[in-house]
Amino acid sequence: MINVAIDGPVGAGKSSVARECARRLGFIYVDTGALYRSCALFCIKNGITISPDNESEIAEALEKRLELKIDLIDGEQHVYVNGEDVNGEIRTIEISKAASEISALPSVRKYLLDTQRSIAANNNVIMDGRDIGTVILPNADLKIFITAKPEVRAKRRYDELIAKGESITLGEVLVDVNRRDFNDTHRKEAPLKQAEDAILIDTTEIDFEETVSGLTAFIMSRFETLA
Ligand code: DC
Repeated sequence: MINVAIDGPVGAGKSSVARECARRLGFIYVDTGALYRSCALFCIKNGITISPDNESEIAEALEKRLELKIDLIDGEQHVYVNGEDVNGEIRTIEISKAASEISALPSVRKYLLDTQRSIAANNNVIMDGRDIGTVILPNADLKIFITAKPEVRAKRRYDELIAKGESITLGEVLVDVNRRDFNDTHRKEAPLKQAEDAILIDTTEIDFEETVSGLTAFIMSRFETLA
């Protein structure tokens, strides 16, 4: 199996780039952020406070009461929380914030570790997240770290949210991006950082198609079986 790990901060374009590269290569695309978002949604819906002080209740609820499943429909990842497709519900600002908070808890990261590793063990995958190259798949065949300037990332996130009908300002999104960058890079457990053997792609000045075609060609050149 070929495993490609893509990490990077919020709004760097990694999800859309990873999804499209996977489609062109016939790989499975795994969006691991959706798993943290789904855990956060589960807690919110069940009145479970997301805070480090409440970690044992959260851990117990995830182990005993949450069944998390992933399915691919027309190449699109769908996550099911106790049988319910939550894709439409996990992309709000509220869930983004809660996901960032819940992802700092070691027991939550541990809970999601096996799910992520077992998908990679059985499929050619492009998996995107924050700690894929450093923690989840340290032996990935290829590691990419995608980033861009915070202002550019905030603008991309803002355009996505507006397109989905959310009412928000660019300034609010920039505050959210900066806060999440801080949380993601400063947490004790599996902080966001570029793996030593990862290749850096800065998309500040590169558009989507250029990034995707460059990366797809690069992956194909690295793995002869794909040519
Ligand atoms: O990629 P995203 O914005 O959907 O991720 C939501 C949150 O989950 C983000 O704040 C960081 C966290 N996350 C993580 O800690 N590790 C991952 N592998 C993926 C996401």
